[in-house]
Amino acid sequence: MTETTSNTANTAPTTNAALYDAARAVIPGGVNSPVRAFGSVGGAPVSMVKAAGPYLTDAEGREYVDLVCSWGPMLLGHNHPAVVDAVHRAVDAGLSFGTSTPDELRLAELIAGKVPVDRVRMVSTGTEATMTAIRLARGATVRNLVVKFAGCYHGHSDGLLAAAGSGVATQSLPGSAGVTEAQAAETLVLPYNDRSALEETFTARGQEIAAVITEAAPCNMGVVTPEEGFNQFLRGITESHGALLIWDEVLTGFRASETGYWGLSGKVEGWTPDLWTFGKVIGGGMPTAAVAGRAEVMDLLAPLGPVYQAGTLSGNPVAMAAGLATLQNATGEVYDAITRRSQQLEQMLVGALTEAGVDHSIQRAGTLFSVAFGTSAGGVHNYADAQAQDTFRYAPFFHAMLEHGVYLPPSVFEAWFVSSAHDDSAMERIAAALPHAARAAAAATAPTS
Ligand SMILES: Cc1ncc(COP(=O)(O)O)c(C=O)c1O
Repeated sequence: MTETTSNTANTAPTTNAALYDAARAVIPGGVNSPVRAFGSVGGAPVSMVKAAGPYLTDAEGREYVDLVCSWGPMLLGHNHPAVVDAVHRAVDAGLSFGTSTPDELRLAELIAGKVPVDRVRMVSTGTEATMTAIRLARGATVRNLVVKFAGCYHGHSDGLLAAAGSGVATQSLPGSAGVTEAQAAETLVLPYNDRSALEETFTARGQEIAAVITEAAPCNMGVVTPEEGFNQFLRGITESHGALLIWDEVLTGFRASETGYWGLSGKVEGWTPDLWTFGKVIGGGMPTAAVAGRAEVMDLLAPLGPVYQAGTLSGNPVAMAAGLATLQNATGEVYDAITRRSQQLEQMLVGALTEAGVDHSIQRAGTLFSVAFGTSAGGVHNYADAQAQDTFRYAPFFHAMLEHGVYLPPSVFEAWFVSSAHDDSAMERIAAALPHAARAAAAATAPTS
């Protein structure tokens, strides 16, 4: 544990613990996003001050191999020179114009060149993107209901917070206070990978369902691999009932593979969703996201159509520059490197856990994976499976990794992220830390109450 220094008016806090104490006095819970709070692993969150390549440095000067990658965006590693250069040039040219810009056009064209979408509307967060997609689906179908899956997270707009995975799961919340019953009633929550539940729901209420929204591959209840044909089934059932399929690739987009999880699913099976949402990688570490899709649906957006959506900083030129430079540098070699590192990491993790006798399974979606403890018999197919795992093993595992210089997601319900900057020396540091963490997980005991 870190020693706490006092935070007087003249002494700026410098340790993680002191920074956390000071932050709690002025920021709710001391964090600006709940999953950062170490809620399920305990202890003071680590305050980072610097990042380079695969490494983060905290306020106390300790360096960590980063396996969070800003929750996905840092595909090329931190401070990639091409991205930093592009951002510097954009900053020199002006922080925000509140007008159209050439770079937003280039980024939209780049995205539309990688996946089959006709139109792309930039927004600032994934939450805005999914919220807009839902509004578009309702506008297009003149229906109210939305189907989502338990454990899938689509941002924090009111109607999408039911059984929303990672953040709420980590805080042990069933949903969120402040969401009206009317809004909650318009979201039908079904178990993931469950075709019968979908058939029953569409048989009963198909005429009222505007859209099914799904994570392309769920990564917010830990990774859950879609069962063979499940996404194609979603495409078919929505189409046959006149509902839209909203394909949330905020996390997986241009990360699970060069063409996102769609590249491993719809592209192979020959189908496309109606609407897509992107975020994270397309902003390269700056706040950018997008809703995209077929022209007939997307052109319902204002100013062309009746569905309103707007944003003061949408398509911000500095964010566009970061996103463009990231996607332009995301070559086939980058994805090959990330795939190789992610497989190497999985092998190292499985080796260490097996050696320590820790029952587990690995869930994978392209380059993304997560570990679930005590699940080797059945694996994890839905939120109920994810919650039933031996979650108590994760906190000691996480803290042992942290102590040995590896920064993991502070929740078992999250994917592990690698970048193309994770080199041999970063992997060696992880390899050295893993046996300690595996032994800590093995020694953990289930809480008695
Ligand atoms: C699949 C998915 N959709 C939407 C979001 C929301 O994105 P943001 O945090 O940018 O609002 C997230 C965030 O993690 C996500 O993983």
